[in-house]
Amino acid sequence: MISLIPYIGGKHRIAKQIALHLHATGADTLVDVFGGSAAVLLNSGFKKRVYNDISGDLVCLFRTLADPTLRVQLFRRLRWMPPSRQIYDEFSRDYLKNCFSFSYLPKVERAAATFYRHHYCFGGKSRCGGFQVSLGDRQGIKEITRYRNTLRRLSSVGDFFSNTLIEHLNFQQCVSMYGKKVNCVLFIDPPYVGTEGYYSYSGFCRADHIFLAHQLADCPASVVCTYYDNPLIRDLYPENLWRWERIVATKNSQFRNGNKAKMLECILIKGGIGCNRLVPEHKQRDDPPQPNPPSSGPILPGLRSSWHCPAAPRHLSRLG
Ligand SMILES: C[S@@+](CC[C@H](N)C(=O)[O-])C[C@H]1O[C@@H](n2cnc3c(N)ncnc32)[C@H](O)[C@@H]1O
Repeated sequence: MISLIPYIGGKHRIAKQIALHLHATGADTLVDVFGGSAAVLLNSGFKKRVYNDISGDLVCLFRTLADPTLRVQLFRRLRWMPPSRQIYDEFSRDYLKNCFSFSYLPKVERAAATFYRHHYCFGGKSRCGGFQVSLGDRQGIKEITRYRNTLRRLSSVGDFFSNTLIEHLNFQQCVSMYGKKVNCVLFIDPPYVGTEGYYSYSGFCRADHIFLAHQLADCPASVVCTYYDNPLIRDLYPENLWRWERIVATKNSQFRNGNKAKMLECILIKGGIGCNRLVPEHKQRDDPPQPNPPSSGPILPGLRSSWHCPAAPRHLSRLG
């Protein structure tokens, strides 16, 4: 299924390959912790599934679709909204004033504004991209065609979300809630290092990347995670504990020599078939757990006191 909205960092082009890794873990429930456009969830074929994102606008869009009555109202609203820079700019003005959110609108209006903004924003950059349509195609204006075609699929996507648990949690809560469950696989597609500011919530920071790696390292659920190769990520997810796969992905938002750029995506896997589960060293050796020496305490002071966070794996303790 094609995803509902164009989305920066969206994984629809590699969703099928990711789905193979998700199923290979043997888990029967998929938890998409950083769900975004839900491209992976929609294409992974899991019957039991959880969508989560911190963006209230996206959560509102999917909840509205999941409700058959609201879905009809949304469809009517979107069908009669013409492609227009003025409409886009009016929405933008209040969206920016309201700190990158449509939360000031009633439910159906909010879902409609979110859908409209994602379809017409430049390069999928919904946080601050301006109105964009491309006139290069002889067959028609690509963005308008895509908008109209997507409206025809609202009903099937809505049915899909009627059977999906929709969460609106910060990742820490989501991972600590579902990471306990051995029948779950967590799909982790966070804002990549250096792209945190592209999303409506732009507060994901270095400390979050580190905290997330701590949580994932120790949770019983299987994990499939995507990132670009980066020194921080290599330190947080060492190859002796995580299985690294690499795949080439075409980027919609980046161009090289006039062509869409190709990037190497890293898929990091923990748990499941053919992969070592992360077992703390003391458990592997059958001797009692040792308290961390003072020098290998939490890498960020205060993190472990405010959250139920697993002890820092030893390989992480050198990160500053
Ligand atoms: C790379 S995008 C995910 C793209 C998604 N996999 C797709 O295919 O469309 C990262 C997502 O993480 C969400 N996000 C950012 N910070 C978050 C947080 N602290 N907790 C939960 N979600 C967060 C953003 O709103 C964004 O939708």
